[in-house]
Amino acid sequence: MPFDLDELLRSRHGENFELHAKYLNPQLAKVVKTLGFDRFYEHGEGCYLIDEDGTRYLDMLSGFGVFALGRSHPVIKDALDQALRADLPNMVQIDCALLPGLLAEQLIKRSPSNIERAFFCNSGAEAVEASIKFARASTGRNRVLYFSHAYHGLTMGALSLNGSADFKDGFGSLLPGASEVPFGDLDALNKDLRAGDVAALIVEPIQGKGVNELETAQWRAIEVALRDAGALLICDEVQTGIGRTGKFYAFEHYGLTPDIITVSKALSGGYVPVAAMLTSDKILRGVYSSMDRAMVHSTTFKGNQLAMVAGLATLQVFDDEGVVAHAAAMGDLWKSKLGALAHEHDFIHDVRGQGQMIGIEFGAPSARKARRRFRMVETARTAMFSQTLVVPLFQRHHILTQVAADNVNVIKLLPPLIAGETEIDLFIEALDELLSDAERSSGFLVDFGVTMAKGALRRTRTKSSSTRETR
Ligand SMILES: Cc1ncc(COP(=O)(O)O)c(C=O)c1O
Repeated sequence: MPFDLDELLRSRHGENFELHAKYLNPQLAKVVKTLGFDRFYEHGEGCYLIDEDGTRYLDMLSGFGVFALGRSHPVIKDALDQALRADLPNMVQIDCALLPGLLAEQLIKRSPSNIERAFFCNSGAEAVEASIKFARASTGRNRVLYFSHAYHGLTMGALSLNGSADFKDGFGSLLPGASEVPFGDLDALNKDLRAGDVAALIVEPIQGKGVNELETAQWRAIEVALRDAGALLICDEVQTGIGRTGKFYAFEHYGLTPDIITVSKALSGGYVPVAAMLTSDKILRGVYSSMDRAMVHSTTFKGNQLAMVAGLATLQVFDDEGVVAHAAAMGDLWKSKLGALAHEHDFIHDVRGQGQMIGIEFGAPSARKARRRFRMVETARTAMFSQTLVVPLFQRHHILTQVAADNVNVIKLLPPLIAGETEIDLFIEALDELLSDAERSSGFLVDFGVTMAKGALRRTRTKSSSTRETR
């Protein structure tokens, strides 16, 4: 019988949560149900997800930044279609294929002049792993520094550079020589650099967990300290890179010249996992130092032709549609519209970020009753207020957002870079309505409680139905 995707989707429709609970991560299935985010999405179109009832959801997450061009972009689809029809000789391995060379050329063309080489892999974490190895090999030093609140992925090396204990707990000993530096603390950095054993500092030019930023002068001082100590600067642009912040790379906002850059997410066009570590010829030769060592760092899928085509088509669409400039313009619009909203609602304490990477920080308002309600929510759990907003944003307004990290009252917006004024206005109106509600009454807090209770009920039902199945 020929493989029939339509038939498969039709015949197993609605089993998604049950299958996840049974075969994948049952805790995730529980979380999604408890929050009332359990939908069966049937299509993705630009900035929107469409569920089985035809309801459209504005996607302000874009798959954690993957859908820079929105979902189902016709040019990327067509490029992949062409690649499949061409029956490309994929992953010959003892070979030097054309497409990886072309994508490397395009990335290097968009990078500072010291960046001359690319190493391709499959995920952000894998690019970070490569950066650790290349930094160590080229400097002959062992230590790698990272900032508090940092997030560089969850494989063992990348996890060792994670700035939150929660992610690390329970996984045993991590990479020797990985040390945390308080975010932006130059004195602490200098102290660490003094021993002369630091290979590199890895940074996110704008931190994903909390959307935390430093001033240009701070970044410049950090860069000088690293150079003086003979240590490398790794800019992890997995999330911020490829236009997210209104520049091709976020480090351009601060005039930095990294020794190593990592990119991933957006380069995939939302279709094929791909990542790259970009660096200088000298650093690359620290690893590939002889013919014997030509394969000493590698991965099977490194030059996957479909991934290369997705990357090339993505970069072409960026050029053709002026995506980076659009993201910068939308960043200005976000700031002005959210700034105006902050004047109306003093629940909003800060608006930060650049381009289409925006963090909105919430805190106690000045009005007595509203403040009491805020404190009541926060006594349940630190930074719960932002979570109580994310739920009705989804339930009432059909907008998918996320809390930026545990224990921070920050909602993070990561819409497709193509999102425009229409999408910004939809979000602003929804947040305005919810904050007005929070100022007037406990309405949406009640909604939140009801959602949680319903979620708990749905979980119980799934549990009993799956028990029934296994009997
Ligand atoms: C800055 C940064 N680095 C690395 C990663 C890890 O990427 P992946 O999830 O593809 O392994 C992420 C993922 O969100 C990220 O934001």
